[in-house]
Amino acid sequence: MKRRPLIAGNWKMYKTVPETLAYIETFKPLVAGVEDRDIMLAPPFTSLDAAERALEGSNIALGAQNCHYADEGAFTGEISPRMLADIGVTYVILGHSERRHLFGESNELIRKKVESVLRYELIPILCIGETLEEREAGKTLSVLESQLKEGLAGFSAEDLKNLVIAYEPVWAIGTGKTATPEQAQEAHAFCRKILAEMFGEDFSERTRILYGGSVKPENVVGLMARPDIDGALVGGASLKPDSFAKIVNFGRME
Ligand code: PGA
Repeated sequence: MKRRPLIAGNWKMYKTVPETLAYIETFKPLVAGVEDRDIMLAPPFTSLDAAERALEGSNIALGAQNCHYADEGAFTGEISPRMLADIGVTYVILGHSERRHLFGESNELIRKKVESVLRYELIPILCIGETLEEREAGKTLSVLESQLKEGLAGFSAEDLKNLVIAYEPVWAIGTGKTATPEQAQEAHAFCRKILAEMFGEDFSERTRILYGGSVKPENVVGLMARPDIDGALVGGASLKPDSFAKIVNFGRME
């Protein structure tokens, strides 16, 4: 089945509001003609509102990088899915490896966050991926399986109809070491098999699985040529409008 590619930029903790607006002004015309793939930018929380206004009427959707699971409450420093929906966010990245490893997020917490974004009809991008230690110990597939099974426990295929998965091997994030297209394809095909077991063949065939980890204009084409790789979650290379536009436009004539 042909799935519509999604190219998503995760800015992490980079860019002020003026920097965000300058980026969008340059980036928008570079991707203005793109109709056959989805584009998403996830700036930091402080830039979301300004970015939403600047992106209005464009073909670029807005994403957040994280959220709390409650709608509101005494959670100092947190942002709720209700607040994100209110300002026009479409996607929410959940369970990014930096959240898992630097901030101690567990599969159970991430599952609660998935549930919370679904309440507001936001689209979860659930990130999964093994560390180098886990890969070297031969545990890659079992780690992916438990991240999927625990992160998505208790939902139906209907609940998750817009779900996006991002496979991001932790050892490839921000390191310049990309998984080879073969390594990524193997992991993606395995995730699709697990999704089929959990939610049925149809669901699994429809669900987009992005690859993330040092994606650049130079390596995106080889990754995207693989049958189970449906897009990219891009960190470092999404911070410059020209390099991110090249990734969005992968496979087209220069
Ligand atoms: P990177 O980050 O492209 O800088 O490796 C990817 C990510 O963390 O989503």
